[in-house]
Amino acid sequence: MLLPMVSGLPTADLVRAHFPALESGFVFLENAGGSQMPECVMDAMSSFVRESYVQTTAGYPASDRATETARQAHEMAELLMGAEGKGSVVLGASTTQLVCMLAECYSRYLLPGDEVIVSIANHEANAGPWSRLERFGAVVKWWGVDPYAGEMRLSDLEKLLTKRTKIVAFPHTSNLLGNIVDVAAVAKLVHEVGGRVVIDGVAYASHGYMEVADWDVDFYAYSTYKVYGPHMAALYGKHEAWSELDGPNHFFVAKEEIPRKFELGSLPYEGCAGLVALGDYLRAISGRLPLDRQTVEAATGHMRLLEAPVTKKLLDYLTHKPGVRVVGPIGQDRVPTVSFVSDRVPSPAVSSYVNERGFGIRHGHMYSHRLTEALGVDTGTGFVRVSAVHYNTVDEIERLCGVLDEVL
Ligand SMILES: Cc1ncc(COP(=O)(O)O)c(C=O)c1O
Repeated sequence: MLLPMVSGLPTADLVRAHFPALESGFVFLENAGGSQMPECVMDAMSSFVRESYVQTTAGYPASDRATETARQAHEMAELLMGAEGKGSVVLGASTTQLVCMLAECYSRYLLPGDEVIVSIANHEANAGPWSRLERFGAVVKWWGVDPYAGEMRLSDLEKLLTKRTKIVAFPHTSNLLGNIVDVAAVAKLVHEVGGRVVIDGVAYASHGYMEVADWDVDFYAYSTYKVYGPHMAALYGKHEAWSELDGPNHFFVAKEEIPRKFELGSLPYEGCAGLVALGDYLRAISGRLPLDRQTVEAATGHMRLLEAPVTKKLLDYLTHKPGVRVVGPIGQDRVPTVSFVSDRVPSPAVSSYVNERGFGIRHGHMYSHRLTEALGVDTGTGFVRVSAVHYNTVDEIERLCGVLDEVL
């Protein structure tokens, strides 16, 4: 489908017109939990179910369409992530499932005494599966954070790296902190000792340009349902990294058949159709017709520009509010995922007050349980998190701040 193109930075109204869910007036500020879908993605999923909802590779027209849709979905994920001939993408149900699958592959590859470094800042999806490798004789080391803002320091990682380091698992962006880690710098350090990096890109991908080949990372995962798409996830791996592993699919699927060897069972093909259609939205907001890396870069660049005043407004308000502690970077490049605690009002009371007034936010540890503990916050109540994306507006944040003012 060809959507109307914009030239230059699209206005918030133009962007919002693509998202039917926004018409209700409800303010979606829980986007780090899951983002809304543009209409073109919904339409593609619905058409697929109407016309091609059959199994792939059977050799009749509807099946051929399903096969082609699944192929194009892998191609789209590779384009979005910037795999550029250096690696391939495995699709699956969720990032949690894909990382568990990868860790299971490594449990058969690592030798006793091999070392696995896991960042405390991870969502549990990229922590638990690696820490459980201890059962197979791996030595698990934790890469800590600074206990006030949550910063992950490269100097701390350097102290943990040895010649036996095989895996370093960390988030590109924490889903609590909204920080942006220099993944290329971490990958370089880890490669110097011969290890591989496994990066959780989930909290980054809805905001920024992914360049997995240029960053020279080994594995990188993100969840497509947080990036304006269907409930699925994608795991990029470098060719050489996939080839040292044996995937868990059936014995008669050859080790070299990638991605199939690492994809268990069938994919949700209607989701694949939605993922492919996301390209139309990116073209529309980039103002470019070809579906290529420049278009992805322009579209994500526009998203970041639209987010910038929203992030600033929210941080300006929260950082000047007495009794409020904001975690994550202030005054540095970051995404608009902002978590805070009040020393007066418990987080559940703040989120329920706000949620009852036409906004969607959240409180808790957001599955970053270890990070919440490291930051000295009660995991039972956790943080209040406000997470915006490019379709949120400064006006929405102003209204949110008005409501927060009443409860804080
Ligand atoms: C940073 C981060 N990583 C991983 C996940 C898990 O994603 P999934 O639901 O696809 O397993 C989430 C989900 O909230 C997340 O925010």
